[in-house]
Amino acid sequence: MARTKTLARCSACDRTEPRWMGRCPGCGAWGTMETEEVAARAPSRAPRGPTTAAPTRPALPIRDVPLDALDRAPTGLSELDRVLGGGLVPGSVTLVGGEPGAGKSTLLLQAAYALASAGRTVLYVSAEESPGQIRLRAERLGALADRLYLASETELPAVLGLIDAHKPDLLVLDSVQTIRDPEIGGGAGGVAQVRACAATLTEVAKRLGMATVLVGHVTKDGSLAGPRVLEHLVDTVCELTGERHHALRLLTATKHRFGSVGEVGCFQMTGAGLVEVDDAGRLFVGEAPDGTTGVAVTLALEGRRPLACEVQALVAPTRLVNPRRVASGLDGARLDLLVAVLERRADVSLKDRDVYASSVGGARLTEPGVDLALCLAIASSRRDSPVPRDVIVLGEVGLAGELRLVAQTERRLAEAARLGFHRALLSAAYTGDAFGLSLDRTRDLTEALAVGLTVATR
Ligand code: TYD
Ligand code: MG
Repeated sequence: MARTKTLARCSACDRTEPRWMGRCPGCGAWGTMETEEVAARAPSRAPRGPTTAAPTRPALPIRDVPLDALDRAPTGLSELDRVLGGGLVPGSVTLVGGEPGAGKSTLLLQAAYALASAGRTVLYVSAEESPGQIRLRAERLGALADRLYLASETELPAVLGLIDAHKPDLLVLDSVQTIRDPEIGGGAGGVAQVRACAATLTEVAKRLGMATVLVGHVTKDGSLAGPRVLEHLVDTVCELTGERHHALRLLTATKHRFGSVGEVGCFQMTGAGLVEVDDAGRLFVGEAPDGTTGVAVTLALEGRRPLACEVQALVAPTRLVNPRRVASGLDGARLDLLVAVLERRADVSLKDRDVYASSVGGARLTEPGVDLALCLAIASSRRDSPVPRDVIVLGEVGLAGELRLVAQTERRLAEAARLGFHRALLSAAYTGDAFGLSLDRTRDLTEALAVGLTVATR
C-alpha cells in the first residue's frame, strides 16, 4: 500500500505546510488552510547520477519540422475573432476572465450559438445557472440552435460524461471556479480544484481536438481567481472589461499561443446582448458643440487599436484652502502633476480653482500621450477659449513643460485622418508623414497652448 502523509494547503495562495494552521504564513489569510493526504516520497536511495532513456522522437533540424496546420473556426462574432486572430483553434483552451456582470456568459452564449448555427456541435455547461435560465437568456438573444446543448453540472466526471456523449467541437464551461473534481480535496474554486479541473479538461481538449473555453471570475484585486494558476496551462487568456455604468465592453487577449496579443474587440451591451462595434473610432468622443470650452480630443491606443478619446476639464473658483483635483477615467496623480506644470511653466493660474477632469464614455486613459490633451482642456476651461473640434492633440508633457513625441504617432495620425480630423497638435520632434492633416508642431506647453487655444479665433 502506498504510504501517505498529511499536508495542509492554503486555498488562497497554494502554500503548503506540514501541519494545519489557523492563519496561512504565506498570504496571511485566516481559515484558508485545508488538510489533504498526499503520497509520501519514497525513501531516498544512494545517488547514482541521472539515468538516460531513448528519446520518444529524435530532435529534428527546425526546417524539417512539419508545420501544425491551424484550422481556425471563426466564431461568427467578428470582434471576438479579431482578438483570437481568426477564430477558435480546435484543441485549444481559452480562459475568458472578467468581473461578475461584465457579460462573459452573454458573449459565450452568442459565440456558442453562432458556431452551432454554422453546423458545429457546442456543449455549454453552466454550473452557475440552470438550463432554464440559460434558455431564457438565449430566447432573448435569439440564440436557439439545434446543435447547441445546455447542461448544468458541478462535478467534473459528469462534465466528462457529457463530452463523451456529445463529442462537441466546442465546450464552454461557465465557470471554472464552480466545478469540482471529487478526487481532489477542498471546495470548488480553491486553487487545487481549479488547477486540477482545468488540467483534466485541457488534456481532454487536446486529445479530442475540442476547442474549450473556460470562464473565470476576476477577484476584486484584479487577478484571475485561482491566482493565475491557469494562465500557464491554457493557450489563450482573454479579459472582458467595462464600466458598470457604461454599455461599452472591451475584450483583450493577454496571452495567445496562436496569434498576437494587443488586438481589442469592442462590444456594446444592449437589450439584445452584446453588439459588435466595428468602428469604435469615435465612440469616446462627446457631442459637445463647436465652441465648448474645456474639451480636447486625443488619439489613445487601446492595445493596438487607435481610439479617438475626448478629455474634459472644468476649472471652477473655490474657497477651499486645498482646492480639489478630481480625475475620473484619468490618472489622478498625473492630473496633480500637470496642474503644477501648467502653473509653473505655462502661466495658467490654478491655485484658487478646483480642477475636475474626466474622460468620455467610460474610457480609461492612463498613457502619457494624453498629457497634452488634458493640459489643453484645463487651460481651455481656465481661459474660456475653446479648442477647435477638428484638432487631434498628441503629446507627453515633461516637468520642464517640454513636449515629447508619443509612441506610434504615425498610426494615430493615420487613424485621426480617417476619422475626419483636419489638424493635429503635436511635438516638434515629429518628422513623419502628415496623412493629409495640417500639423502644428510645437516645442513646449506655452507654444502648444498659444496654438491650440487660438486657432479658432485666428
Ligand atoms: P452576464 O453575461 O451574465 O455577465 P457575467 O457572465 O460576466 O457575469 O451579463 C451581464 C449583464 O448584462 C447583466 O447584468 C445583464 C446584462 N444584459 C443585458 O444588458 N442585455 C442582455 O441581452 C443580456 C443577456 C444581459
Ligand atoms: Mg455569468
